[in-house]
Amino acid sequence: MPRSLFVTTALPYANGPLHIGHMMEYIQADIWVRFMRASGHVVHFVCADDAHGAPIMLQAEKEGISPEELVRHVALGRPECLDGFLISFDYWHSTESPENVALSQEFYRSLRDAGLIAQRTIEQFFDPVKGMFLPDRYIRGECPNCHSKDQNGDNCEVCGTVYAPTQLIDPVSILTGATPILRASEHFFFKLSDPRCLAFLRQWTAGPHLQPEVRKKASEWLVVDDSGQSQLTDWDISRDAPYFGIPIPDAPGKYFYVWLDAPVGYLAALKAYFESGKAKEKTGTTQTFEEFLADATTEQVHFIGKDIIYFHTLFWPAMLHFTGHKTPDMIAVHGFLTVSGDKMSKSRGTGISPIRYLREGMNPEWLRYYLASKLTSHVEDFDLSPEDFVARVNSDLIGKYVNIASRSAPFLTRHFEGRVADVGQEPAWLGLKASEAATEIERDFMARDFARALRTVMAFADAVNQLFDSAKPWELAKAPEQAEWLQKVCSISILAFAHMTLWLKPVLPALAARAETFLRIEPLNWTQRICVSQIGTYRHLMARVELSAFDRLFAPIEESQKIVKKAEKPVIELAATVTIDDFAKIDLRVARIVKAKEVDGSDKLLHLTLDAGEGRLRQVFSGIKSAYRADELVGRLAILVANLAPRKMKFGISEGMVLAASGKIAEDGEALFLLEANSEAKPGMRVS
Ligand code: 2FM
Ligand code: ZN
Repeated sequence: MPRSLFVTTALPYANGPLHIGHMMEYIQADIWVRFMRASGHVVHFVCADDAHGAPIMLQAEKEGISPEELVRHVALGRPECLDGFLISFDYWHSTESPENVALSQEFYRSLRDAGLIAQRTIEQFFDPVKGMFLPDRYIRGECPNCHSKDQNGDNCEVCGTVYAPTQLIDPVSILTGATPILRASEHFFFKLSDPRCLAFLRQWTAGPHLQPEVRKKASEWLVVDDSGQSQLTDWDISRDAPYFGIPIPDAPGKYFYVWLDAPVGYLAALKAYFESGKAKEKTGTTQTFEEFLADATTEQVHFIGKDIIYFHTLFWPAMLHFTGHKTPDMIAVHGFLTVSGDKMSKSRGTGISPIRYLREGMNPEWLRYYLASKLTSHVEDFDLSPEDFVARVNSDLIGKYVNIASRSAPFLTRHFEGRVADVGQEPAWLGLKASEAATEIERDFMARDFARALRTVMAFADAVNQLFDSAKPWELAKAPEQAEWLQKVCSISILAFAHMTLWLKPVLPALAARAETFLRIEPLNWTQRICVSQIGTYRHLMARVELSAFDRLFAPIEESQKIVKKAEKPVIELAATVTIDDFAKIDLRVARIVKAKEVDGSDKLLHLTLDAGEGRLRQVFSGIKSAYRADELVGRLAILVANLAPRKMKFGISEGMVLAASGKIAEDGEALFLLEANSEAKPGMRVS
């Protein structure tokens, strides 16, 4: 039965670019979402900027802009990173949105009607110069325990003691340097200490939606003493003006604490996505947001880091339950990622910037694969070390997986015109147990144990490579009587490669798409049998990663320019400048390739017949044979240099030239790509 899922990642604060920790979480969630979609389930995958709170307000002030402007500005930078790392969110929203204002206020009213909101006057530190109450992190002072100077407002980094900011000796506001004063103010509380909340949370946290270690942690927070009391205290959900947040109904000058409206933002993003029509467009659903949310079969899954377990296992389920909503079906918690341990931050800067990673031209799928190879279903921290990264990516992806296609395809192309023999289903596959591996891999992806799934994929790749080696196709190719056996061995390798492509597809979606093109098959999924009967020309699928890429990534920005110059000389040497008038002399036209054939006696040229919308056909001899088979070009829209003087060649007259990009793509090879027009362009259209 197809499942219907609503999946989120934690909403990032809208005060800066996404960091590597965010990307790890998004990649983890994206892999799971892609796997579920490819297994036939319907997934709505949304996220949003977490726009509110004092830090965002203060940062905007520092930059001399409004918080709304800051949030808008930060949102503009999101797509580069999200698209760059192939994260397939269906919708990206903001907690600073009408949907979130309305929903947060509805939640509050509903909790108030249930008798779960209390009002109390409390005393807090106030900065008399700035005229605002101070969150703990804006106060520093001397530790009341070990007397270390300049400690945090709520804990000492030297002796580890946890205290209230009011216990600090000589407290100072870090905003103005003023000595904070205690001031009374009325606050609103969610009565988590209410016996109804405690009873609900004790039962909910014992359920299957938490990982065992998370369940254990939550149960510690909910321990009751002999008199039935727990340590669970009421939760302060209000902040006084000035504050960038959502106004509390019927309470002028009071705003929701950012952590009240942030998780509601999950639902606001889903609502905006449904109401934009995109949910229907993408999945064909006919449900409204309200129907979808109320549907008992809808599963709600939140991917989060271990630092925000408290909010997601206590506050959020209680908020949902006591406002009549369904509670989450799974809270998927991950550990923290460090980069080269402590060394990184001290000697090499501040870890990996995802944007810089992309801008340095590093392949996003290397990172996706590396992270996936470390991620399990447990809350485990792990370290990214460049050496380990390079070894894993190169050895697994290039040395094992890609290797299978790159070594078997040339035999099929050269000796059998790319035809893949019908080798039936296993176990006729010479001992390769693809379906056994598939069962394990499917189970492990479902359970979010990606590390284990990938180990199984790579063990299978080892088996395929061994089979290939022991058959020695290079020797079979010399003996015509062994042709059938050669085709069988290579066909089994290619079929095994196709299976591995499906298995790796949640992790490596772009590479899988290139592999599908090479295999000439429709997009792979877990619900259909894999058949490959004819392959296209093999083109290099992925380049190796070099350790030097990390040197550039970690070098200070100016340094990284120098390294590029020193190590690689200028990458691109441009031709002499031309004027726009010079350029206008070249008449570029869209041209459909109506016929393509090999040229007898030439191993470089293909003979193309082109329709450039002129009412006649042209013939062009093009040097693209190394990259394309003639039959795969027919129907494509090329770009023709239409006013190039005809050239008499040994094979005939060439009436123009089609454009192609060529150059080095990896250590081991050059590549060539035909430039193509969008499929809706028409022959004869001018290109300028
Ligand atoms: O910890 C954080 O970065 C928060 N912005 C996460 C919010 S998650 C959800 F509740 F919105
Ligand atoms: Zn101390």
